Amino acid sequence: MSNQDDKDKATKQDRLIEHSYDGIQEYDNPMPRWWLLTFAATIIFSVIYLFNVGPVGNGKGRIADYEDDMKAFATAHPAPSGDVSADKLLAMVKDKEELHEGEEVYNKYCTSCHRMDGGGLIGPNLTDNAWIHGGQITDIYKTVMNGVLEKGMPAWGTMLKPEEVEQVVAYVASLQGSNPANPKAPQGALVTP
Ligand code: HEC
Repeated sequence: MSNQDDKDKATKQDRLIEHSYDGIQEYDNPMPRWWLLTFAATIIFSVIYLFNVGPVGNGKGRIADYEDDMKAFATAHPAPSGDVSADKLLAMVKDKEELHEGEEVYNKYCTSCHRMDGGGLIGPNLTDNAWIHGGQITDIYKTVMNGVLEKGMPAWGTMLKPEEVEQVVAYVASLQGSNPANPKAPQGALVTP
């Protein structure tokens, strides 16, 4: 390159702008092409993304996507219905196999708060006849289904399968009067079954 070329390029390219901030001056060179292209691409992508068209989403738009997800979730986790017949639950209490299934659910999810033998720990004693939320088997079912969130009892209706809830409720009912050692003191009202 000749000296002249260098000079031409220098006048076009690296021309200092007049102003100076804190003694710092800058050139007014254009952004590099690759940078501009990337920038333009992000703007184009954002428009495609916003309307969720073919290549980015499924083309239905994000609101429909959200509603689909919520619907799928609702089907997978049916809302607690609370409509189970006491007769069905009471029959399950007499069914060894159902109780066995219930015991497995209990051992997996409930012992950390209600103790292995139901004697109570963080949660109340489930073997005595004092109940905070009612001791009829349908009351127990509702408590297990809906939980008592503000007190730390989870809503199992959204986590367990419907038959698992029924089985564990039957199992809890079967613990009545089992008198485990060192139980938690009775809480709630006495219920005669
Ligand atoms: C994270 C702790 C925790 C777990 C796990 C838990 N519970 Fe509870 N449970 C509690 C607490 C705390 C209460 C008391 C709620 C209150 O004071 O109102 C309770 C209350 C109950 C009651 C009502 C007792 C009454 O006196 O009315 C039943 C029935 C019950 N739990 C069953 C279960 C079953 C069945 C499971 C397992 C599927 C389970 N719990 C798992 C903490 C727990």
